Amino acid sequence: MRRILIAGNWKMNGSSSSTQTLLEGLKQGMGEVKHADVAVCAPFIYLPQVADLLNGSAIAWGAQNLSEHSAGAFTGEISASMLNDFNCKYAIIGHSERRSLYGESDELVAEKFAVALGAGLCPIICIGELLEEREANQTEAVVGRQLDAVIKRNGIEALAKGVIAYEPVWAIGTGKTASPEQAQDVHAFIRQRVAAQDASVAEKIQILYGGSMKPSNAQQLLAMQDVDGGLIGGASLKAEDFLGICTAAPA
Ligand code: PGA
Repeated sequence: MRRILIAGNWKMNGSSSSTQTLLEGLKQGMGEVKHADVAVCAPFIYLPQVADLLNGSAIAWGAQNLSEHSAGAFTGEISASMLNDFNCKYAIIGHSERRSLYGESDELVAEKFAVALGAGLCPIICIGELLEEREANQTEAVVGRQLDAVIKRNGIEALAKGVIAYEPVWAIGTGKTASPEQAQDVHAFIRQRVAAQDASVAEKIQILYGGSMKPSNAQQLLAMQDVDGGLIGGASLKAEDFLGICTAAPA
């Protein structure tokens, strides 16, 4: 039985004061969350504050990116060991905004996956198609290619130490959500592709859905057989909304 994971991706939002308000709200509501693990992925600069506020709580935390290098002359970058310094559990890797706005290739994303795993972090690897790719019936080709790059670089067993997030790019921040059936179809495809190489890894690996998940649609999405959680952008910025998703996890 795979446990549900609900992870917030705050993106470049917030301030110290809103971080404090949000995390206090989440901590207060966590007693109601029975069937999901919960994590927040904060902007780098707030991670020390997040670590202080969440230490000893049931909420894990992580980063939204990391460098593929371990140290050195890489101005503006943050390494995996720096994330370890602040007890991050997760690092989001290859979010579509990193791929499209910052030119991250499949190979770079696969390398970041390796670096995160090597440091003991749990990478949340994001894959997903653009609208035009879906309309051209290329969803499986795109998602398969993105996944294969990670498996090729890291091996199938390493994949089991991470989490996959299927995020159709057309549903991110647009208010458009994949229907539960659309999400299930792609999640099942992803799991089958993993199973073709290793059935036990496929059975075990969590596949999250991301793209305008909110309290009003979370229950239906999370009820699908191969949807093992959510990666939540906009709705992770308000404690009430995020908790509404966390409590929608099925028993
Ligand atoms: P959204 O973002 O929930 O705001 O659509 C999800 C994500 O980009 O991870």
